[in-house]
Amino acid sequence: MNQADVDFLTGPAGREALAWLAAEDLSEARTLVLLAALRSTLTPEQAGAALTLARLRRRAASKFSRAGEMFFTPEGLEQASGEHIAAWRARRFAAAGYARVADLGCGVGGDTLALAALPGVLVLGVDRDRLRLRLARANLRAYGRQAVWLAADLTRALPLCGVPAAFFDPARREHGRRVFSVRSYQPPLDTITAWRFDGLAVKLSPGVALDEVRPYTDAGAGLEFISAQGELKEAVLWTGAFGFVGRCASRIDADGHGEILMPAGLPAPPLSMPRAYLYEPDPAVIRAGLLGELAVHLGITLYRLDETIAYLTGDGAVDTPWARVWPVEAWMPFHLKRLRAALVERGIGRVTVKKRGSPIAPEALIGKLRLNGDGRPAVVVLTRAAGRPCALICGEPLRRE
Ligand SMILES: C[S@@+](CC[C@H](N)C(=O)[O-])C[C@H]1O[C@@H](n2cnc3c(N)ncnc32)[C@H](O)[C@@H]1O
Repeated sequence: MNQADVDFLTGPAGREALAWLAAEDLSEARTLVLLAALRSTLTPEQAGAALTLARLRRRAASKFSRAGEMFFTPEGLEQASGEHIAAWRARRFAAAGYARVADLGCGVGGDTLALAALPGVLVLGVDRDRLRLRLARANLRAYGRQAVWLAADLTRALPLCGVPAAFFDPARREHGRRVFSVRSYQPPLDTITAWRFDGLAVKLSPGVALDEVRPYTDAGAGLEFISAQGELKEAVLWTGAFGFVGRCASRIDADGHGEILMPAGLPAPPLSMPRAYLYEPDPAVIRAGLLGELAVHLGITLYRLDETIAYLTGDGAVDTPWARVWPVEAWMPFHLKRLRAALVERGIGRVTVKKRGSPIAPEALIGKLRLNGDGRPAVVVLTRAAGRPCALICGEPLRRE
């Protein structure tokens, strides 16, 4: 997408084309039919731009409630923070009471939208990409929100004064590929060492190496891992006045409701062989290393199956959004024939296989088990207990997956 495309898409002819496309079946198979219809009044470039945006708007519906009125490039949408997660982070800026907040690397405005929704906060969206700034402005308009926009290179001296707090979202992709080291982010993470904000939050990839952020966490920054609907989404480095000790875990539900588990410096739970229930903690809890805190939060005694694996086990069941829980019917050191015999003996004819710390591919195991498909279903969990490969036969999880 270029500036001429945006001129067209935000003008009357573009709006008319997008309104027509919004009611159409946009599947790939209909591309030629749709383009032919659009080309009766539009240039080929305009028709292509309208169809691309209409499809991006459909895709964006999982991130934005007003996706149908917004503007994206494919990469801008890919990188944009969704509404729920951005609102979750913005809460802390509101709680700190900052009147001005900069959104550094604002892209198409996913985070600017959430910050600009805070009452009494003036938001400055900064990006070096002028096209994205234009799309961000249009996206805030779709929500009836406002911000001040600045085109600037963040690796140079920041053209900001009197702005005490910032959110920084560096790009974690280069030429469409994910980059993993914070040194390869665009701009790199150490760009922040030149900045003097009272409070600064930085979005990082969820798989960030803890060693790479240690200079910041040793200096008082806290690290938050965020999951949404059971999937680890991102890490946030909270520095300056936002800092806290250790790593916390946040979970955001489908309705946008969030909950946080704070570190308390508790030791990991003791080891035990499998007990009546198997717990798989939320991935944010696992990445934040809060297994001990989870047990205290749930109010039960939990044990780890193995030093290196994040499955927990306990005698009681707690129905919680912080973990998936399965009743354990039986367990044994891993042995194919023994496992098959135990399943057949229990009348189990179909299995779902889960694994942590086992090299066996679930599909391969299902094939080798040769179950007849007639009996009741069960979940087979391949993992390690006290350093040894083992298999657990579990019933249906407490919550539907
Ligand atoms: C991950 S995206 C931001 C997404 C945004 N938070 C959202 O929710 O839509 C990163 C942004 O940083 C911008 N960027 C990368 N390097 C930059 C630099 N040196 N100066 C200014 N902006 C930069 C890119 O143009 C891109 O829009």
